[in-house]
Amino acid sequence: MLQAIAGAVDTPVYVYDGDAFDERIERLQAALTDVDHLICYALKANDSLAMISIAAHAGLGADVVSSGELLKALRGGILPADVVFSGVGKRRDEIAMAIEVGVQSLNVESAQELDVVAEEADAQRTVARVGVRLNPDVSADTHEYIATGSSAAKFGVPPQEAYELLVRAQREPNLEPVSLSFHIGSQIFDPSTIFEAAERAEGVWRDVRAAGVELREFDVGGGLGVPYMGAEEFDLSAYVSQLGKLTAELGATLVLEPGRWLVAPVGTLLTRVLYTKDVPGRRIAICDAGMTELLRPALYGAEHPFSFLTDTAGRQTGLVDLVGPVCEASDFLGKDRQLPLPEPGDLIAIGFAGAYARVMASQYNARPPVPEVLAEAGGWRVIRERAIIDSLLDTERA
Ligand SMILES: Cc1ncc(COP(=O)(O)O)c(C=O)c1O
Repeated sequence: MLQAIAGAVDTPVYVYDGDAFDERIERLQAALTDVDHLICYALKANDSLAMISIAAHAGLGADVVSSGELLKALRGGILPADVVFSGVGKRRDEIAMAIEVGVQSLNVESAQELDVVAEEADAQRTVARVGVRLNPDVSADTHEYIATGSSAAKFGVPPQEAYELLVRAQREPNLEPVSLSFHIGSQIFDPSTIFEAAERAEGVWRDVRAAGVELREFDVGGGLGVPYMGAEEFDLSAYVSQLGKLTAELGATLVLEPGRWLVAPVGTLLTRVLYTKDVPGRRIAICDAGMTELLRPALYGAEHPFSFLTDTAGRQTGLVDLVGPVCEASDFLGKDRQLPLPEPGDLIAIGFAGAYARVMASQYNARPPVPEVLAEAGGWRVIRERAIIDSLLDTERA
C-alpha cells in the first residue's frame, strides 16, 4: 500500500496507520482497566485532526500546550472537560480561552501564571479549575533536550512552592485546585525516575490535603519510550501497577499524558532518493525529505529505522548517509548506516515517524508543507493536502 500511496500522492508524504493507532490506545486502556484514570493524548506529538478524532472516538482526553492545540482538540471531538492545559508559557488570551471553554485543568507553572488565571476567571465571573506542575528535581535517563524534571529546568515549581500555590488557589474565590502534575521528560524506559517523581508528588499531595485542599487528579505526564531501533519495549504493566496503586491509596484519578508511545510507531515518512554521491568510505543518498520533514535526527541525533520499498535484491551493502536537500550540514535523516547502496529513484520508508515529525516540520528553504495520509480498514485517504508553492506567499506583503 505504501508504494501505491507514494505513486498517487508523490513524496515526501507521512502515512499513519489508523488501525494500529487504535490498537495502541486499546492496549493502554486495557492495562488501565482496574485503575481510575484519564488518558490525555499529548497533542504535541501529532496534532493532525484525523488522528485527534481517532483518539476522541476511543474516549481519550487531550493534553494541550497552546490555544491552537486546544482548538484542534475540540474540533477533533475531545470534550473540554477531558482537556488538561499544560505549558510553561501560556499567554493571557490562551488562558482566557481555556477558562471560557471549561478545560478540566489549567496546569500552572509559576505564581505569576496563577495570578493571570485568577484575574481572567474573575473577569469571566467564573471559577477556573487549576493544577500545579511540580518540578520534582529528578533526572530522567534520556536526551538532555527532552529531560524536563531537574531543578535547573524551566518547567514546573519546586515542592514547597507547589504546596503554597495549591493552598493559595484554595483561598481564591475564582480558583478551584484540582490537580497536581509532573512530567519529567520523554523517551523514558526506566520508570524508576517516574516513580521517584511520583513519590515527591505524593508528599506534596498529602501536605496540601493536611492543609484542607482536596485534589482529584494525580497527573504523571507522558514520557513512555518507544523502541525506535528495536530496543526493548516500555514495561507498561510495571508502570501502571505502581502508579495505579499509589493513586488508589490517594483516592485520586490517575491522569496520563502519553504522546510518543501512542503515535510514534504508527507513522511512516516516505521519501525518494534524488541523487547519490560516493565519498571516501560511504555513499551519500540525497533524499527529497530532510530536516524540514523530520527534524529529530538533526535536533537530537535521533535514529529512525529505514526500509527500502524498492527491490534491492543483488545490491551491495555498505555505509550510507541518508541526507535531505536543505542547505545545512545538519540536514540528515540517518548517518553511518549499513544499508543496500541506494540509487536514484529508490523509495525509502522511514519508520516511527508518527510522533514529533510533521508537528516539527518547517518551511525552511521555502519548502511547502507535505501531505499526510491515513491508512485505515484496508483503504487510505489524504488527511492533509500537499500545499502548493503559492500558499507560501498567502500571508506575506512585499
Ligand atoms: C507536559 C507534557 N505532557 C506530555 C508530554 C508528552 O510526552 P511523550 O510524547 O514523551 O509521551 C510532554 C512532552 O513534551 C509534556 O511536556
